[in-house]
This record gives sequence, C-alpha cells and structure tokens, in this order.
Amino acid sequence: MGGRGGDRGGVMITTAGVARFRAVLADTLGWAFDDKDAGQLAQVLLRRADATGLERGEYLARLAAGDWEPELGTLAEELTINETYFFRHGEQFRVLADVALPERVRARSAQRVLRLLSVGCSSGEEAYTLAIVARQVQPDPDWIVSVLGVDASLAVLRRAQTARYSAWSLRETPDAVRERWFHPHDGQYEVDARIRAAVRFLRHNVAGDDEDLWRPGQYDVVFCRNLLMYLTPEARDTLIRRMTGALSPGGYLFLGHTDSLGSDPDGLEPQQSRHTFFYRRQSGHPAPATPPRIAPPRPAPAAAQPAPRRHVDGPYERAMRLLREERFAEALTVVEAGPAGRVVPRELLLHSVLLAQSGRLEDAEIVCRRLLDVDGLYADAHHQLAVCLEGGAAVDVAVGHYRLAAHLDPDFAMPRLRLGLLARRRGERERAADELGRAQVLLKYEREDRIAMFGGGFGRVALTALCRAEGAPR
Ligand SMILES: C[S@@+](CC[C@H](N)C(=O)[O-])C[C@H]1O[C@@H](n2cnc3c(N)ncnc32)[C@H](O)[C@@H]1O
Repeated sequence: MGGRGGDRGGVMITTAGVARFRAVLADTLGWAFDDKDAGQLAQVLLRRADATGLERGEYLARLAAGDWEPELGTLAEELTINETYFFRHGEQFRVLADVALPERVRARSAQRVLRLLSVGCSSGEEAYTLAIVARQVQPDPDWIVSVLGVDASLAVLRRAQTARYSAWSLRETPDAVRERWFHPHDGQYEVDARIRAAVRFLRHNVAGDDEDLWRPGQYDVVFCRNLLMYLTPEARDTLIRRMTGALSPGGYLFLGHTDSLGSDPDGLEPQQSRHTFFYRRQSGHPAPATPPRIAPPRPAPAAAQPAPRRHVDGPYERAMRLLREERFAEALTVVEAGPAGRVVPRELLLHSVLLAQSGRLEDAEIVCRRLLDVDGLYADAHHQLAVCLEGGAAVDVAVGHYRLAAHLDPDFAMPRLRLGLLARRRGERERAADELGRAQVLLKYEREDRIAMFGGGFGRVALTALCRAEGAPR
C-alpha cells in the first residue's frame, strides 16, 4: 500500500496518486515539483477531480492526454504564483530604455518596427511596462511597437485584457509615467489606449510548441522572468532554445533575478550594465537547434509508381524564405549571387526590398528605379519606391507613389496601410481612418509574398490589428 500524500475532508490520496499527478504536470505543463509540494498537490488533485466530476484516476488520464486546455489553464492559475506588478525590478527597465532599445532602434532603422515578447506575462503588467518603455524610446510616432504577452492561464490573461489595475500594482511606477500612461477609473488605473493598442495577449503553454510564436529571429527583446524556476530541466532548456532562436541577432533576453542560464549559454552572450545582468543573442551565431518533432509515419510509396520529382527551390524562393525569417543579409547574398544584369521584375523587387531592409536605402532606390524603367505599371515597385523615399524623408513624393500603387492595383492593402499611418502622423484623422479602414478590409486577401516583403515582419493578423488600433478615433 502506498503512503499518504494528503488529506482533505477525510479523503486520503496515495503517494502513488500524487507521483502520477506530478509526472502528468511535468509532461503537460513542463513543471517540476519536489517532495515538499506533495501535500499541496494532493489537495489540488482532490479539488480539481471533484470540480470536474471525475474519479481521480479518470481525471489524471484525461489530463495526461494533454489536450484539455481549459483545465491546464486552471492548474496554471492554482499552482503557480501569479504575483507581478508594473516596473518590477525597475533597474532592468532602465537598462532596457538606456542600453537595449536604443541599440535595437539603430538596428531596425530601415524597418521602423520593434517587437517585444513577455513569456509568462501573468496579468499583463510586464507586457504593458515593456510597451510604455518602448513608446518612450521610439524615435518617432511612425514606428510600430508591438508587444506580445503569453501565459498558460486564461484567467490571468482575461485580467490583462481589461487593462485595469489597483494602485498596489503601480507601487513601483514612477509618478510621471503614471500621470502620462494611466487614467483613474472607478478607483483603479486604466492603461492608456495607445499603450493597449501596442499590446496583444495569447494563451500559450510553454510545454507545447507554436511555430509562429517561435519563428526565428523576430523579437528585439524577450522578457521571461520568474517562470523558468517552475520548469523541469527539459522544459526549461527547450524554452531557452526557443527564446534564443526567436531573438533577432543582437536582440536581448532578460530573466528574473533567480533565473540563470549558466556561464556559457548556447547562442547568448552574458552582458552586464548598472548592476543588471541580461543576455544578448550573438550575431552570426546560428539559432540553437530545438529537438526535432516526431514526424507522422508516411505511407510507403507504391512499388510500381515512379518516384515524384522533387521540386528544388531556386534563388528567389530561397531568398524569400530567408526574408520571412528576417535573415536579410543572407537573403541579400543569395540574390546578389545570381547572374548580373538579369531583368526579372519580381527578382529586382526582392533585391530592392532586401537592400532597404539592410539599411541601404539609396541602393534600394536605384534598383527600384531600374525596375520601374522596365515596368512602369508595376504596383509593387511603386510601393517599394515610396518605402525608400519615405525612409529618406521625401515624404510627399512617397505619398504620390503609394497612391499610384493603390491606384494601379485596387486590391493592394499595403500602400493603403502606409498612407493611413502617414495621415495619422500628420493629424489628418478622417483620411487616416478611411485609408486604414480600407487596408483592414483588403488585408484579408492580401498576397502572402506582399505581407512578407512589405509587412515589416508582421503577419496578416497583427497588421489588421494595427489598422484597427491606428484607425480608431482618439
Ligand atoms: C510569477 S508569474 C511571472 C510574471 C512576470 N513575468 C513577472 O516576473 O513579474 C509566472 C507566470 O508563469 C505562468 N506559467 C506557468 N507555467 C506556464 C507554462 N507552462 N506556460 C506558460 N506560462 C506559464 C503562470 O501562469 C504565471 O502567470
């Protein structure tokens, strides 16, 4: 007979039952518990089995299947500490504002976007703090700042969505920040709409995968504080590899004070500034490999059938793939390795986009003008020329080319989006709302290659949310 793991209301649970619960939590949520937690685990197991109307064995079997998302969220709520507040560990946010973000602003000057991620964001204070700091650092209002907060618990994410907090949550928030970015509301503080518009929340359990979330090279800054300490070594290592891979080369990772990656983490350089410790993704270091997924078994090919011819990607497809992964320098090398003097419009367009993404706006403009010599009615080329001109401060001329692009292809969402953002910047509210409204509708059907080339690293959903947020009256 097994030992006793816990007692509630006279019902006893065996040590074996608690051990099974521990193993299931390690598999499904990546959590590590030690023997001292047995009592608490036994209570939670009893309570949750009762609440779901299942026998304890059935409850554990259903949980072990791994696809019971609402229950996993409830357990995340019950078994982790969700405590957090704005500007927690303020020195990290000072380093973010004074060291990390100015460097990322330089690196992103061609794209004018900053992407930040808060992993284990709890009720949202960390994600909103990131957006406030980024907003204060961004060089001009035309930059796009996007913060994504992820957590396994739906309950905390719902609180995050309301964006209303008690004075206690703002206990470390500087007065000037409180006055500027929070509004008193029914005895609480509401986060300013401009900050809310920059922040999105997503339910994600770090023990599972999500290709979009961990797409290589996309984030400028990742915060993952006070979560690693709950995880098993395997879940922790996988998460660290994913976060490292998803950072841009030169991007920054901030952990909690008690989290550490050891002295020589793969792909990351430890850094120190103002008594604050953080990590930087090494440039030129390949993303650390994540464990391969197990592929489903493939049916054996019928013996009599000839083997299908494998399609081999050409330089254009390879460069597009690298562009989607934001590996601009490598994509540029692929494009420039092709035969000189070739005049294929889509290749010239991609060449110009990659030059612009690498900060070589003048070269990008030259290539784009060459393309327009060949095909003066190519809508994408007019859009691209406008991007070059806007970056070089010839904004009025850029507006003309965006308009021409939209005229030449009425289904093209991206020039509408840029025209809307420019109008917003100039304070032309009606025009901004009109252009962004049209962009929002057209984005549903926008071609994927256009989103990859002109979306600044954002996907369709994020661009649609941006149109909605920027087009809304203020
Ligand atoms: C202590 S809070 C950290 C909040 C914030 N990062 C901070 O440091 O102030 C830890 C958060 O991690 C979340 N969490 C725990 N396990 C998780 C998992 N497997 N996947 C995603 N989030 C998880 C919890 O729901 C909780 O909100």
